[in-house]
Amino acid sequence: MTELLQSNHDRDSFDCGNELLNQYLKTQAGQDIRKKISVCYVLCPSENRIQGYYTLSQNSIPLEAFPPEIQKKFPPSYRSIPTTLLGRLAIHQQDQGKGLGKIILIDALKRCWETALKIGSFAVVVDPIDQAAVQFYQKYDFIALADSKKMLISMKTLDVLFR
Ligand SMILES: CC(C)(COP(=O)(O)OP(=O)(O)OC[C@H]1O[C@@H](n2cnc3c(N)ncnc32)[C@H](O)[C@@H]1OP(=O)(O)O)[C@@H](O)C(=O)NCCC(=O)NCCS
Repeated sequence: MTELLQSNHDRDSFDCGNELLNQYLKTQAGQDIRKKISVCYVLCPSENRIQGYYTLSQNSIPLEAFPPEIQKKFPPSYRSIPTTLLGRLAIHQQDQGKGLGKIILIDALKRCWETALKIGSFAVVVDPIDQAAVQFYQKYDFIALADSKKMLISMKTLDVLFR
């Protein structure tokens, strides 16, 4: 479904309506891949046109940022909890509203869940860029983290979805 971003993909014509996310794909994504900071997957059904993209990297979240019902599952000595960061996710404006955001989100979550079977990760964390993005993630049962704009869905929840 999605593939790793390559130099032949047409980044210049990608426009999701959010300039920060457009610019990231055009100017930063390749560098981050080369530096091994994150990976970028693209949805590219025909030759080089990018319909959507997302980025993944490793992350950790301070224990106190989790809701109390999650905090109490961990010993207090666990200062931070390993997670997977779905840092950016966007669909080309011309393709929005056709279900591709949902498809690419599920693709990303499945990839995170499969990786977590090999390298432990408690949850997938997202960093919504605005209120509309918060509403999009709420629709898929992401919960808010205290004192930050970040949201998460636990790997246990994804177990139910993907097992
Ligand atoms: C948010 C975004 C990824 C959604 O992609 P999309 O292809 O338009 O979404 P879909 O067509 O797959 O919609 C899937 C569901 O989410 C809902 N949805 C889409 N955008 C939404 C929004 N902004 N707020 C609330 N719900 C939203 C749809 O109504 C749909 O629900 P349904 O299945 O009940 O009909 C896309 O609008 C986008 O790229 N926006 C700019 C960048 C952005 O905000 N990224 C978010 C992460 S930083």
